[in-house]
Amino acid sequence: MEFYVDIADMDAVRAVNEYFPIDGFTTNPNILTKANKPLSEMFGEYRTYIEETGQRIFVQVTADDADGMVEQAQRLHDYFGDRLVVKLPAVREGYRACKRCKAMGIDVCVTVVHSMMQALMAAKAGADYTAPYISHIDNIGADGVRCVDEIVKAFDRFGYTCKVLGASFRTVEQVEKLAVAGCHAVTITPETFDMLIAHPSTDVSMQGFNRAWHDKFGDNQVSDYLE
Ligand code: G3P
Repeated sequence: MEFYVDIADMDAVRAVNEYFPIDGFTTNPNILTKANKPLSEMFGEYRTYIEETGQRIFVQVTADDADGMVEQAQRLHDYFGDRLVVKLPAVREGYRACKRCKAMGIDVCVTVVHSMMQALMAAKAGADYTAPYISHIDNIGADGVRCVDEIVKAFDRFGYTCKVLGASFRTVEQVEKLAVAGCHAVTITPETFDMLIAHPSTDVSMQGFNRAWHDKFGDNQVSDYLE
């Protein structure tokens, strides 16, 4: 399962990468508006990061028509190279751009997906990823987790290699349920990474280990006894 961090700030990406086994980071136009530096400077930092780590970066186009999307995809690909996945929206022009980008050898994620048919059409158009927005689906009275479960099953049934990238989470439970469903990838906030691995029973056990150790060996460390 692939894990991405959904944020624009490079320091935050680096901090998550220091602690967790991530595959890269994802951005969208909304996320990029929150950048606290000029975007051109941010993009330079992104390029350095993906070259250093070999991880992937997801960047969304901002054009409305397929010609503009494809032109931006080409320029983004020239700049970031093969580590780029270009995000195209699940709208008519986005699917058109998807077919063209794939013919040009550019990796694509069809994003802002809210239904099975949008995802299925992305896979058939050759997309490498498709990103259902779990909480947004919940908020329109449907079931985001069940939608992803059904998309994953449909992709398996038809033999599509397109990966499902779950996005827009509100709870750790949603992430867990996507893992159970066999969802190939998720993109989550830095805070969610911390919540994924937090467990009060682990903390209680660790307190027990520390107490027992210090009672017997004081401030010495286990490596102090290697002679
Ligand atoms: O990756 C998609 C995500 O950034 C959208 O999340 O729920 O904050 O709109 P949301």
